[in-house]
Amino acid sequence: MAEQQAALTAQTWTHRWTFVLAAAGSAIGLGNLWKFPYITGVNGGGAFVLVYLICIAVIGLPIMMAETALGRHGRHSPIVSMRELARESGVSKWWGAVGWLGALTGFLILSFYSVVAGWAIDYTLQMFSGTFQGMSAAEIGSNFDSMLANPVQLTLWHSIFMLLTGLVIARGVHKGLESGVRVMMPALMALLLVVLIYSATSSGHFMEGLSFLFSFHPEDLSWDAVLAAMGHAFFTLSLGMCAIMAYGAYMPKKASIARTASSVVLLDTAIALMAGMAIFPLVFANGMEPGAGPGLLFVTLTSAFVSLPGGQMIGGLFFLLVVLAALSSAISLVEPTVAWVVERFSIGRAAATVAYCILVWLFGLGTVFSFNEWSGESAQLFGMTFFEFIDYLTANITLPLGGLLIAVFAGWTMKRSHIYKELNIPLGAFNLWRAMCRVVAPICVLTIFYFSTIEEPLMELLGITGK
Ligand code: PFF
Repeated sequence: MAEQQAALTAQTWTHRWTFVLAAAGSAIGLGNLWKFPYITGVNGGGAFVLVYLICIAVIGLPIMMAETALGRHGRHSPIVSMRELARESGVSKWWGAVGWLGALTGFLILSFYSVVAGWAIDYTLQMFSGTFQGMSAAEIGSNFDSMLANPVQLTLWHSIFMLLTGLVIARGVHKGLESGVRVMMPALMALLLVVLIYSATSSGHFMEGLSFLFSFHPEDLSWDAVLAAMGHAFFTLSLGMCAIMAYGAYMPKKASIARTASSVVLLDTAIALMAGMAIFPLVFANGMEPGAGPGLLFVTLTSAFVSLPGGQMIGGLFFLLVVLAALSSAISLVEPTVAWVVERFSIGRAAATVAYCILVWLFGLGTVFSFNEWSGESAQLFGMTFFEFIDYLTANITLPLGGLLIAVFAGWTMKRSHIYKELNIPLGAFNLWRAMCRVVAPICVLTIFYFSTIEEPLMELLGITGK
């Protein structure tokens, strides 16, 4: 074990920025660009956004710090780290289950993530080849629908994305990730800014878009929406499934966890809000429904790119960056599990990756069919399509549950002196962080779980309505 520890420690990233880049690469992805705008639309706008922002600050940031600290203290793959940390703290080795839950969640998320990233590959190619030129917003909308209706096309792009993910993982995460993310992030921000400026100046509906995003109407808020907002805070920051813990294991001892975690949280939130501010004015300008669903990003932005001078190139580049952002997130969904398989069994990294990717690919076919063959009611699970069910289960249940356990472990179980040394922040800030992990975050998660999954459905069942 000591040798293994030394080998892993020798692998630490040499620069503080590498952790920020890797964690930001994991956090920033389809969650910010595709999912945030679409679920904000479905959940009615401003009130949902406010809850999401509160969850980011109150639950997200403290848990991001906790996950990073556990990873760096454990210095192994999450499953092994959690077991070792439990032993060090004198509690049951069953805490290792947090790592298992994370591995399962990563598997499930990647299965639909890859299908959606596949849509972005399709759109990158269609954009560059000029397919959309001269199309109206309605025609662009039906183009999107016909893509979803075609399982062969969806399977092809899903396969290509899984192949790309597998290739990067098999070669080792460190090579390429740093330089890739370093170029991708500023480029993504710059192009988002272009769309945002276009939206502000040409859509004629900028204020309407902003008001949808930021005006608070508490009557719009159901417990279901609150659960979705909290779940999304976990999803967008890649928290609760040990992805950040796996990266934390490579973080140099002297880097500041509080500073790096805050940078990642700020960057991630800024990108999501920019995407929302760019998209909603276009939604209203094109007469679309904010709650139109998963096609929102694709249809609105494509309509904007079509009328933008040079839009074919800018649009192609934008969707290419969406694919790359999805890729750097996908890597972090796989890494905790592959790291564990390689550490635990004497299997090569490449073989572990191939086997894992084939399984995810197969499972992902369920999401492919959710948009066509299995879109009917007869194929639904709890009133949801397969895709909606997997998305709900992971974002709203297993990620918050994993995050809750991580917060409790860091706040209650781990030796105070160990975690204090890891975080290395002034005592007042440390006590505040600890109170967040011990009390505030668990109470928030449990309250939201209770009202959204027990109280509200029960009331509905009894015929007592009310938000
Ligand atoms: N945070 C990613 C996104 O917003 O697209 C998705 C994700 C990646 C979730 C890694 C969870 C994770 F562990």
